[in-house]
Amino acid sequence: MFQFLSLLFCELLILFHTTVASRMQQGSLKVSEKPMVSQRSSSFSGSGVIQISLKTRDNVEYYGCVGMGTPPQIFNVLFDTGSANTWLPSSNCLTINSACQLHSRYNANMSSSHRRIGRNFTSVYGNGNVSGYLSQDTLLLDGVELSGLIFGETLLHYQPTFVNTKFDGIVGLGFGQLAWKDSIPFFQLLCQQNHIKKCLFSVYLRRTTGDNYGGNIKFGTIDADKYKGVLHYVSLLDTGYWQFKMSGVFVGSKQIEDNVNAILDTGTSLILVPHRVFDKLHEAIGAKVENNSYVLSCERTQLPNVDLRIGGKIYSISSINYIVELETLNTKMCTSAFIPVSLEFWVLGNIFLTLFYSVYDAENKRIGLAEVVGESN
Ligand SMILES: *[C@@H]1O[C@H](CO)[C@@H](O)[C@H](O)[C@H]1NC(C)=O
Ligand SMILES: *[C@@H]1O[C@H](CO)[C@@H](O)[C@H](O)[C@H]1NC(C)=O
Ligand SMILES: *[C@@H]1O[C@H](CO)[C@@H](O)[C@H](O)[C@H]1NC(C)=O
Ligand SMILES: *[C@@H]1O[C@H](CO)[C@@H](O)[C@H](O)[C@H]1NC(C)=O
Repeated sequence: MFQFLSLLFCELLILFHTTVASRMQQGSLKVSEKPMVSQRSSSFSGSGVIQISLKTRDNVEYYGCVGMGTPPQIFNVLFDTGSANTWLPSSNCLTINSACQLHSRYNANMSSSHRRIGRNFTSVYGNGNVSGYLSQDTLLLDGVELSGLIFGETLLHYQPTFVNTKFDGIVGLGFGQLAWKDSIPFFQLLCQQNHIKKCLFSVYLRRTTGDNYGGNIKFGTIDADKYKGVLHYVSLLDTGYWQFKMSGVFVGSKQIEDNVNAILDTGTSLILVPHRVFDKLHEAIGAKVENNSYVLSCERTQLPNVDLRIGGKIYSISSINYIVELETLNTKMCTSAFIPVSLEFWVLGNIFLTLFYSVYDAENKRIGLAEVVGESN
């Protein structure tokens, strides 16, 4: 039973990210590098705003369109706030690796702006990995040309994780500490080359069903139409993630976490919680144990909210949003969107980000949140 649930969840999780420890094993942690934002002039190449429309597959993944190379080759990519590196499938990828073969592939020979780097890489995610070699080329997004981006050309994808994805590759939106040695990650490069008027981006994710318009990501601007009230900001911790402190987590009146860190992660579908709090959380929301798994009533109105306290504000996740229905072989059962992981911080994925509009402000080293504006589907 537990395995059965885990299997379904692999599909729902998409990506959750490698821990700092495993990055250190790869020797790619660059501790000395401070996150971004240095000298910037006030002239931009265009409007200073880059807007990418996102599509979603059942709220599991959100992806947008970019071009790589000259002339541009087109890819769907996941814009991932939980990692910093960019990769695309390579035209040289192994013929036996269908997860790679089934996606659009970058052909370096067809690009006049391609440059070789001559290094291999492996990116390890919590539920899969990709490997290949590094290249450098121009990324085209919303008419803006970002030159000299170092990215991975993948030869091998871990099949169970990557075979069914709508996205071909990933554009990491994290900072240099998480990036390959001697490479400037996408967002840092975007700011350095003065393509955007402010070194920030904002994410609007819609909850919807099927394959549908999923929202947008805007670089250089904040979309005041997409949230209610005012944005509340909280300081970033200097970790490479979009990470900050939560001062408490409550289920109804019961406090289940004191001070704990969290990251905002557009590359994770659900909400990941440290192992030590998993049981406490499920006991507090009233989950029952059946065959080694936590099971919830599918009646969505009866369970308490899970309240996250961030910068003095409460961000509530109601049971309507955290109950996950699993439908198989004529049976319907429900469980929660909270998944235990071996991390010391919470990972707030798309379940959270469809409820709260989010701003990632590197200039002021802070993230901003506000209740998202609802819309009828
Ligand atoms: C690209 O060109 C190199 C050298 O000419 C060749 O070895 C390689 O097979 C080509 N790759 C593709 C995908 O065409
Ligand atoms: C990169 O990996 C390939 C096999 O995929 C190997 O033949 C090559 O020697 C590796 N290059 C480096 C620089 O490690
Ligand atoms: C990638 O994942 C597969 C399957 O879990 C594993 O066998 C392999 O060792 C991993 N590769 C790396 C470099 O972590
Ligand atoms: C738990 O296992 C028992 C026996 O294996 C089975 O009859 C029951 O349907 C299972 N419960 C659920 C919720 O799958």
